[in-house]
Amino acid sequence: MRRTIVCFVVLGLLTGGLAGLAAQRDLRGTLEVVHWWTAGGEREAIDALYRQFRGLYPYVSLIDASISGGAGIAARAVLIARILGGQPPGTFQVHAGAGTVNPYVIPGLLEPITFIYTQEGWVDVFPKPLLDMLQYNGEFWNVPVNIHRSNVLWYNKAIFASHGLTPPSTLEEFFQVADALAKAGVIPLALGETWTVVHLLETVLLGRLGPETYSGLWDGTTDWAAPNVRQALDDFARMLNYANVDFAALSWDEACRLVVDGVAAMNIMGDWAHGYFLAQGWTPGVEYGWRPSPGTEGAFQALSDTFVLPKGAPDRDVVIAWLRTVGSRAGQDAFNPIKGSIPARIDADRTAYDVYQLSAMDDFARDAIVPSLMHGAAAAPEWMDDIITAVGSFVAHRDVGTLHRDLIAAAREALH
Ligand code: GAL
Repeated sequence: MRRTIVCFVVLGLLTGGLAGLAAQRDLRGTLEVVHWWTAGGEREAIDALYRQFRGLYPYVSLIDASISGGAGIAARAVLIARILGGQPPGTFQVHAGAGTVNPYVIPGLLEPITFIYTQEGWVDVFPKPLLDMLQYNGEFWNVPVNIHRSNVLWYNKAIFASHGLTPPSTLEEFFQVADALAKAGVIPLALGETWTVVHLLETVLLGRLGPETYSGLWDGTTDWAAPNVRQALDDFARMLNYANVDFAALSWDEACRLVVDGVAAMNIMGDWAHGYFLAQGWTPGVEYGWRPSPGTEGAFQALSDTFVLPKGAPDRDVVIAWLRTVGSRAGQDAFNPIKGSIPARIDADRTAYDVYQLSAMDDFARDAIVPSLMHGAAAAPEWMDDIITAVGSFVAHRDVGTLHRDLIAAAREALH
């Protein structure tokens, strides 16, 4: 008898997710999901994940607690206040890496979820660079739903064709193309509010420094005072001259809209822009094309959206069921084709993905993987906030020397 029970337990652990999922169909409770996916493409993607979850757990009531604001800056402030106030939601969206570790894991606000990884066999299906980003103190704390790429240049194909231009591969080519577009009366680069400017900066740093030196910025092995960092900042400053003048007033998706409307030719944004373009009815390779952002061929600036289990979360069983769904193949294949990202799992159904995403999957497998700053992978939020402040002031004063000094000071403070 005892042996039979042991056998069942072992079988249950081995078959992991699906057996567990089916058995819990009658699970009841409430699940509040905090996230910031409210723009075109992202909204449809989270709704697809909800449909998947509802199909598996029809008796759970879902509360969609979305907090608008790209990159999750607004959501982060609300979440910290709620959690410290003893009112955590069931689960919330958060970036893998420092974006989770510094504000939530180190202060002891999350439960480790390594047991779910063991039951679901996730260490065998998530790629090594992602697992490295997810593990902290010998435990896993997040379930990744995707991998996004931040260093992508998107372009309006009709504009490039009508001006006989080739999308730029290097920063030098970018400036040539941008000059030609500006002369023709087209806005070369669509840009949005400050976080999108910081996003642009991280891609220019990568483009000028290369993957190894760029990665060294975040662990102290690259000197922020070095002349090539200054060179990158000069490039960055010059690029801003080619952007729409009202950029500070636009959200990331409003900036993408300028490309869709044919008002601007290019946009440098993560591949949630792909999800946005799809949601506008555009077809990749037809109305729009893409390239690694200037100078970054062969490097993949990565980030991952994840969900977590806060300590004291209401209806913990329901949260665990959500996390299993998020990490499941079916969950990821429902979400990512709409979101524009690639699945976190290596065993996803490739036929569900389009030409852009297939190229991104291949690049992820081949390229140098480096962490995104603006999306939680490279630096703790305090450091990121200092960089956002420095860039926000730069946009007003436009003095590259001051920006450089501010960034050196921020790095010194963060790495001391
Ligand atoms: C990123 C997030 C993406 C996308 C983007 C714009 O930080 O990782 O999934 O939502 O913000 O909102």
